[in-house]
Amino acid sequence: MPKNWKTKLIHSDVRVPEGFKSLSLPVFRGSTVLFPNAGVVDDNWNQYEVGYTYGLYGTPTALELAGRICELEQGGRTILAPGGQAAISLINFAFLKAGDHILVPESIYGPNRKFAGQVLRRFGVDVTFYPPTIGAEIRSLLRENTRLVWCESPGSITMEVQDVPAIVEAAHRAGALVVLDNTWSAGVYFDAFAHGVDITMQALTKYVGGHSDLLLGSVTVRDQALYQRLGSTQQLVGCGVSPDDCSLALRGMKTLAVRLKAIQESALELARWLAVRPEIELVLHPALPSCPGHELWKRDFTGSAGVFSVVFRPQFSKQQVLAFVDRLELFKIGYSWGGVTSLAVAYDFHSIPNRPDYGHRIVRLNIGLEDVEDLKADLGPALESLK
Ligand SMILES: Cc1ncc(COP(=O)(O)O)c(C=O)c1O
Repeated sequence: MPKNWKTKLIHSDVRVPEGFKSLSLPVFRGSTVLFPNAGVVDDNWNQYEVGYTYGLYGTPTALELAGRICELEQGGRTILAPGGQAAISLINFAFLKAGDHILVPESIYGPNRKFAGQVLRRFGVDVTFYPPTIGAEIRSLLRENTRLVWCESPGSITMEVQDVPAIVEAAHRAGALVVLDNTWSAGVYFDAFAHGVDITMQALTKYVGGHSDLLLGSVTVRDQALYQRLGSTQQLVGCGVSPDDCSLALRGMKTLAVRLKAIQESALELARWLAVRPEIELVLHPALPSCPGHELWKRDFTGSAGVFSVVFRPQFSKQQVLAFVDRLELFKIGYSWGGVTSLAVAYDFHSIPNRPDYGHRIVRLNIGLEDVEDLKADLGPALESLK
């Protein structure tokens, strides 16, 4: 039919040639998805079963990323969330109800801990925090109503490696699901499903994104019933993902292996170099015997990431530790990790109950892709200035 120019702005007759073959997947954006006829309109979230219905449940860009994460982790299905923390809350919303009990390690990522301690408790979920190195002894904390056992290995900042298989065995015997924050291993250095974990999540913000310019999270399961529960909850929580961010993450995945290799080597070299510095009491790097759970890392992991912590000797004041961080030039100060830029953040554990007694003396480092000798040349004078 003839169209006014204003209508043509919306319904154009322009047609471009088909068959453009690029090495990268296009960014498919869209909230509305078109149906072929009125009778098939259906608000079903499961795009694998019914085809595309609504952008919230994933455009092809998002489903491609989800599929690739799933392939990497050898899961059954992966659901994406707009950040690692969103993935954490999605898991909790999907599997918990009032009257349930969950177990959460003291060493878990701070906002995960707060979500459990504040939001879940407000919704009537009973929360017990447990020492991350508890291993099989977790059986004494499991109850009839324990639904989920959270693990994060190594733990945030204090880096304790957990005995995940022992926790899985006890949890399964008690009928509880085990969920693992597998961000540190980038989903590759620790084979969560082979170790019996039921649900894995990652902050793709870190190593998969890899360039500190996006926020995304993933939840992966093998069991179809768990997938159904996650997908239907995601629909109602409404946490869709940006196709642009997914496209960046797909690009990040292509270089993940080489980035991880370079970062692993630099981080190990720096960790060993720091371990013999007179200012440092302890290096908390899972591949070093000084890290709690090092033997478990040797048993269960196939590599190590670039995030670890150092604990200064007791004589150094909080001001000295902060001055050390401020003096660094290549190491920037900022949250998150897994990108190409080295970062340093000082933490103060004085007000956090049941954490190791590191007080104000702990600094977490994220090792990026700078030359390792330059990083030493940055750290060395900053350490010497402490005296
Ligand atoms: C271990 C771990 N899990 C989850 C998250 C949350 O990820 P996001 O920042 O994408 O919400 C972080 C972020 O620092 C993290 O370190």
